[in-house]
Amino acid sequence: MTEQAPIKVDMEKIVSLCRRRGFIFPSSEIYGGLSSCWDYGPLGVELKRNIKDAWWRTVVQERDDIVGLDASIMMHPQTWAASGHLEGFVDPLVECKSCHLRWRSDDLAGGSCPTCGGEVTEPRLFNLMFKTFMGPIEEEASVVYLRPETAQGIFVNFQNVVNTTRKRLPFGIAQIGKAFRNEITTGNFIFRSREFEQMEIEFFVKPGTDQEWFNYWIEERLNWYVKLGIKRENLQLRQHMKRELAHYALECSDIDYLFPMGWAELEGIANRGDFDLVQHTKYSGKGLDYFDEQTKEHFIPYIIEPSAGVDRSALAFLCDAYDEEPAEDEIRVLLHLHPSLAPIKVAVLPLSRREKLVALAKQIYADLRRQWMVNYDDAQSIGRRYRRQDEIGTPFCVTIDFQSLEDEQATIRERDTMNQIRLPIVELKKTLQAKLDGEDLFVLPPGGKIWKVEREEG
Ligand code: GAP
Repeated sequence: MTEQAPIKVDMEKIVSLCRRRGFIFPSSEIYGGLSSCWDYGPLGVELKRNIKDAWWRTVVQERDDIVGLDASIMMHPQTWAASGHLEGFVDPLVECKSCHLRWRSDDLAGGSCPTCGGEVTEPRLFNLMFKTFMGPIEEEASVVYLRPETAQGIFVNFQNVVNTTRKRLPFGIAQIGKAFRNEITTGNFIFRSREFEQMEIEFFVKPGTDQEWFNYWIEERLNWYVKLGIKRENLQLRQHMKRELAHYALECSDIDYLFPMGWAELEGIANRGDFDLVQHTKYSGKGLDYFDEQTKEHFIPYIIEPSAGVDRSALAFLCDAYDEEPAEDEIRVLLHLHPSLAPIKVAVLPLSRREKLVALAKQIYADLRRQWMVNYDDAQSIGRRYRRQDEIGTPFCVTIDFQSLEDEQATIRERDTMNQIRLPIVELKKTLQAKLDGEDLFVLPPGGKIWKVEREEG
């Protein structure tokens, strides 16, 4: 993590909003929480699903050179010998001789325990993989690990995918799934936790074309964040120096985001060369080479790996979307989330709880929720209800008023501008779909009209 930062939003504000509105809770909170594990609440789970869906759509659905996979979390233990994780996935730790807390030795400035000032031991290597036992007997032979990255599930299935899909190089395999690391230094909310989710692509290419594909994926992945609303100035590329490269990487660049605590890694793009397929060939005894039918050559492909974190993406999207605007005598807190990421797409708000109005509003609600995640809210003033939706990033509110009973029209109110349009109820679904797809809010359907609200009732 590099020092510096024009800091725009406090992490405290993000944590508090997430807690207050049900995005993210500490894990097992009623027992005092479990360190650096988090539970995604009703809105958080929608945000996370939307991030994963957007990624999957971009890298699998809309491409014909990448296929998906969902490999198991526990893998044959030899996987981790081959991958180098048993030997190489370690942090040097020291232990305080008085309070027995452990610290990363490279995090200790003064050489003594930061908690009690006690003397610390010499550094010892500590493996970050979680270990457990498979089957009823707890013995060395039954040790298995929770995967620390999803990538290995892809490498061990390379031949299966080639044989069953007949994909030809260059092609990729994409996977989304949980990964586990017994991180020593955790913190910064969901930025670094011990259980997290990754979205990884392993893109197999002919050696010699790897540099070109490495550059291609950096651009693709940067653009993905920008298209989903992250401000370009809050993203930067950081090329790894030779000495910090992971044991498998020939080259690596991180896409860093300007988080509240400073610039930090959001996604890593690595050129893994032929390291993984060579290692798995060696340890499994199975040939993992590729036969190029055109040139009649056998070779081991090189791999370009764009590896993103779902949780870090969620944090970046939340931080980037967070905004506070002065509104009359209060502050309007809002999330400018991209519509495809917003947990709730539309809120249906009847102006009063009068029977006829509620019946119409419920009918509209039932119709819209067949298509999207929709909220129904009839509690408190309309202004307060708008604020509640702004705070969770709902792009559109549909308001049903008494006139709606007569003219069969409703109002759509847009989150960012607070502009409103009135339109026939029969046009609602189509218009909302167009707006959620990014079409101009102010292209009106027949019979619609538009106005700018100067002041919203609080
Ligand atoms: N297969 C390559 C790999 O796992 P990594 O840089 O260690 O590379 C990739 O991890 C991404 O996974 C990171 O950019 C980050 O988004 C996410 N990630 C890694 N460790 C994490 C942790 N402890 N908590 C949350 N996200 C994490």
